Formats: sequence, C-alpha cells, structure tokens
Amino acid sequence: MRVSMIGAGYVGLVSSACFADFGHHVTCIDKDARRIAALNNGELPIYEPGLADMVAADLRQGRLEFTADAARVGEADVVFLAVGTPSRRGDGHADLSHIFAAVREIAPLLSATAIVVTKSTVPVGTGDEIARMLREERPDAEIAVASNPEFMREGAAVYDFKHPDRILIGSDDLRARTILAEIYRPLYLNAAPMLYVSRRTAELIKYAANAFLAAKISLINEIADLCECVGADVQDVARGIGLDNRIGGKFLHPGPGFGGSCLPKDALALIKTAHEHGTRLRIVETIAAVNEERKRAMARKVVAALDGSVRGKTVAVLGLAFKPNTDDTRDSPAIPLIKELQDLGADVRAYDPAGMEQAKSQLPEVTYCGGAYAAAEGAEALVIATEWEPFRALDLARLKSVMARPVIVDLRNIYRVEEMCRAGFRYVAVGRAGVA
Ligand code: UDX
Repeated sequence: MRVSMIGAGYVGLVSSACFADFGHHVTCIDKDARRIAALNNGELPIYEPGLADMVAADLRQGRLEFTADAARVGEADVVFLAVGTPSRRGDGHADLSHIFAAVREIAPLLSATAIVVTKSTVPVGTGDEIARMLREERPDAEIAVASNPEFMREGAAVYDFKHPDRILIGSDDLRARTILAEIYRPLYLNAAPMLYVSRRTAELIKYAANAFLAAKISLINEIADLCECVGADVQDVARGIGLDNRIGGKFLHPGPGFGGSCLPKDALALIKTAHEHGTRLRIVETIAAVNEERKRAMARKVVAALDGSVRGKTVAVLGLAFKPNTDDTRDSPAIPLIKELQDLGADVRAYDPAGMEQAKSQLPEVTYCGGAYAAAEGAEALVIATEWEPFRALDLARLKSVMARPVIVDLRNIYRVEEMCRAGFRYVAVGRAGVA
C-alpha cells in the first residue's frame, strides 16, 4: 500500500515509521524544508524512545521517504492528515487552519480514488468539511474521507501504535473501510480490535476518551487533597478503587495535574464543541478549570514545606517535561509551578533529562543544571515534578550533602515515606502523610 503522511510532527512521524515498519511504502510530507533535511540525515525533531532506530532502518530499506514536495501525494492510495490542531488563542477551539490549508494544497494533487484520513484530533464535523472541500475542488473524483484517530501516548508512542487497545475507523464508505483495514492488517493479526463507526462518531470518541482520562486524573487528584485533610493514603485509595474492574487501576496516579499536548487542549476543544451545539459539558468544564488551578497551587506545597515562604530561597526542580521519556514541555505542570515559585521570590534551579531546551523559552530565569545533584546544590527544597526513571533512585545521602536543607516535595509520589524518614528528609508528597 502506498501511504502519504502530511505532517512530520509527533503523530505524523511515529505513524509514518510504524506504517513503514508494517511494510507499506510511506512518504512523509512536511512544509518545513529544514525539518525534512534533518530527517533525511536521521535527525529527529522530537525525543521518543525507539523512534530514531526505526526511522533509520525504514529509510535504509527504502520504505520511508521524507519530502517537502506535496505533489507526491498523487502517488498515494491513502493520505493521512497529521498536522497540528493546537488550541486557538483566546477561545480554546481547535485551530483547524493547518488542516484546511493542507486539504486545499493537496486537493488538486490527489489521485482520483484516494482515501483522505484525519489522524490529527479534530472536532466533530471536520471530516464533513474536508469532504465538502474535496468535492468542490474535485467534483469528478471519488475521494473518500475517513477519521482514524490515534491514541498513542508520548514516551510510549511506538509501543502504543503497535499494540493499540483498538483501531478506530470512522467512515461509512465501504472502500475506505476495506483499505484502512488492509493498512492495519498486521495489527489485526495481533488481535487488535477494529471498531467501525461513522466519521462523526470516531471524531467524538477521541475527545470523549481524553476527557474520560482527564476525569480520572482530576478525580484522584481531588481525592488526594482530601486524603491530606483526613489522614488517609491516596495510593491505597487508588489501589482500593482501581481493583474494581468497572473503574480500572490505570490513570489513577495523583500528581500536579495533567499536562501535555493533548489532554488540556482537547478538553477545551470539547467544551467549545458542546457550546457551539447549544449545550454544555459541565463536568469537562470543571475538570479543565480545576486542573489549571492545581498546577499553580502546587507551589503552595513548596511554600508550606519551607515554613511559609520561599522568598530569597533556592528551590531545585527535577523534571520539566509534562511526563517522563519526552522532551515535550507543552502545558507541563512544571512550568506554572516554577513561574509561581519565582513570583513568590524563589530562585529556581532545574534539571530535566530531555526537556530543558524546550523549557528555556518559557522559563528564561531558571538556572539550568547538568544533573539532579547539580540542581540540588545549595537548594533549600527539591521538588520532583516529573517521574523520570533516574529520579526514582536518587542517592539520598549524596542529595542531603549537597542541599542547604533536606526538604523534598515529591509531586509524583515516587518515594516511600519510611525511606525518606530514615534518610532524615522533611518529605511532602501528594495525598499521603509525609515526614514533618
Ligand atoms: C494522551 C492520551 O493518553 C493518548 O491516548 C492521546 O492520544 C494523547 O493524549 P499523552 O498526552 O502522551 O497521551 O500523555 P498521558 O500519558 O495520557 O499523560 C497526560 C498527563 O496526565 C501527563 O501530564 C501525566 O503526568 C498525567 N497523568 C497521567 C497523571 O497525572 N496521572 C495519571 O494517572 C496519568
């Protein structure tokens, strides 16, 4: 099968490499000629475990090509749209300008029987609009438009792409369904369930799934706050409820609030979709508001751990990316946390194994360090904002020896309270009794 992928961003790159790995011939097209040149040199614009090796192998074997030449879509049986749909400034609506610009550009170039598939997360009805645009530009062609949302997580994207819980095919067109089933056949043989629904339904499933995940996180975060008030342990509560099959144990890790490029923006876009259709999603509205407040509120934990003030004090922050194994700092809880600490007069030192470059433009006043212990040097408190593996087994004696005061605020609950107690730290966690 000949596949074109429009967009060499996160979703586009991972999907291109995985489709090529399945044995399809993939042409990944992006307007950014510098990005394309770098990719052809084997340099990836994102950090994603396993991706660089896969791209290199696919390039070597000639199954994957990167080009800035949009005309190459003409060779494709299936064209995936994987361009960004960020939040539109001001109103939270998904910005579809990149999607529609891509459609306008490829419309005259597509083969007359191409299948155009949205892989980007797009609001309900976007597929209808794309179909209308294509009909207008190519009235004689038989181009089908389908929705095939992607559920991969950053940091585990390659694994998720190859081991999906389900493959969602949104189209009523039999030809589109058959061709998409053929593209995913290698996964079907691995027994990944294939779900055929209407295009609008597929578009909504993606948003509903992310809203549900956001709800789980927000709920456990709120329960964590209550645990702190009543003296209960949120880790045990999460396990206690998660063992109920109707609830499930995943996405019940309390923390500083959800971040990243999807959950926050998709919640806002879903709220917007509801408004546009004259209705409201009050639960989702609350989740979005509560999560935003939470991110800045995390600074209060640090203030409390430092006896009521951070003014003039040095605080070390470990983790800037919104989660481990990614360099992505978009909507990362670490960013508002650090801004708030700085507003309150703290001097912030930070380290992240991959996210420091991205963070620099958002946080110019931070002292960026070469490692966890370097960041902790002279700090009166150390905040764990992202649960990277290397932060899980820090040498506590060494840490204590370099810090000005042994205070740890663990926003990811990655340490045991007894361990911290033995090591002589004041330890503040989320939803658990700490060490005073
Ligand atoms: C998410 C969805 O999981 C994925 O299906 C969709 O395709 C894209 O959006 P991603 O943004 O990569 O993926 O990250 P995810 O693992 O979902 O985490 C999102 C945020 O929630 C992170 O900030 C993470 O730290 C936080 N989180 C996640 C929690 O605080 N607790 C949890 O239990 C899980």
